[in-house]
Amino acid sequence: MDILNKQQPDGVIAQAPGRINLIGEHTDYNDGFVLPAAIDSNMTVQARRNGTPSTVRITDSAQQQTFSFDLRDFSPLSNGWPNYVMGVVSELQQLGGAIGGFDAAFESNVPVGSGMSSSAALECSFATALNELFGLGLDKWQLIKASQHAEHNFVGTKCGIMDQFASMMGEKDHAMLLDCRSLEFQYFPLELDDYQLLLLNTNVSHSLASSEYNTRRAECEQGVAILQKEHPGIKNLRDVSLEQVVAGIGEMPEHIFCRCHHVVSENRRVLDATKALTRGDFKTLGELMYQSHFSLQNDYKVSCPQLDFMVQQTLDKDYIAGSRMMGGGFGGCTINLIEKARVTEFVEQISKIYRSHFGIDLTPIEVAIGDGASVV
Ligand code: GLA
Repeated sequence: MDILNKQQPDGVIAQAPGRINLIGEHTDYNDGFVLPAAIDSNMTVQARRNGTPSTVRITDSAQQQTFSFDLRDFSPLSNGWPNYVMGVVSELQQLGGAIGGFDAAFESNVPVGSGMSSSAALECSFATALNELFGLGLDKWQLIKASQHAEHNFVGTKCGIMDQFASMMGEKDHAMLLDCRSLEFQYFPLELDDYQLLLLNTNVSHSLASSEYNTRRAECEQGVAILQKEHPGIKNLRDVSLEQVVAGIGEMPEHIFCRCHHVVSENRRVLDATKALTRGDFKTLGELMYQSHFSLQNDYKVSCPQLDFMVQQTLDKDYIAGSRMMGGGFGGCTINLIEKARVTEFVEQISKIYRSHFGIDLTPIEVAIGDGASVV
């Protein structure tokens, strides 16, 4: 990246990380609970004013691709990374941000399509950089929401707030319990004793992820509408108890029941997992991770054969406390809670089995927990 050089030193460098999620999948847009953490892999963006009133030039340094647009007139493309950037610019403009012409370049070491939120990292790095470059004075929550809305309005995924929150608010060596309704959150030291977190990237990412994501969101709303007939006080699945879902089984189509059952039980698991983490009870934490996976696989139906296979392979290993798919689903990584001493042996073993079964190499990622977005 050579946007900032000795001749033109005025500009900013900002970075924003990807994230892991210990537990709490597809709960965020249902006003529920999540337990993510930022990782020490980042999207880095360099940006500087280019002296024009409205010309923006963005370069994806890895792909050597440049995209230009005019700030007075731009709209989403059918797909591609420019949508994330234009989306952020558009949201910042709507917040009253006076943005002028700029050049920027970005590069990342967050694996794309891995369920580690490279997209949130892209949005949050640009939001942070532009906030600084144009002195917009927006606070972190405004940047989080602008990044989330960019994804809704320019990318078309009606995502929750977890990824952008984790990317902005992460703290080294800590997980965060976020209440996605009140937006209150708390840091918890991620001290795992003899265990560590190991991600296994299936290296598959299915194109239906975005459309199925929006479908799941709509199905949850359908479930709420049905449950409201019996319980007018509920606003969304956050307000529903497991007993209420079970009592409503005859009132709704089976797949809607299953979606509601996942979300309501997953919220419970997040709170239980946070308690288990706090008391260093890794067996229970791991058990909750398995339950989360099977719920995502069977009730929410957002897993895929590669993820299920990988989780299955851990079940008979007493040195693995828990394993589950992570993120939106349909590919990406599993997150595994594994004894440190056995990581090398396990990775060797599972890599071979995975390759012979699917003809694809998996990528092991030993994550470290890092800080949230910042101006460098
Ligand atoms: C994606 C979305 C998040 C969240 C997860 C599933 O990563 O961006 O908001 O819904 O899927 O938990």
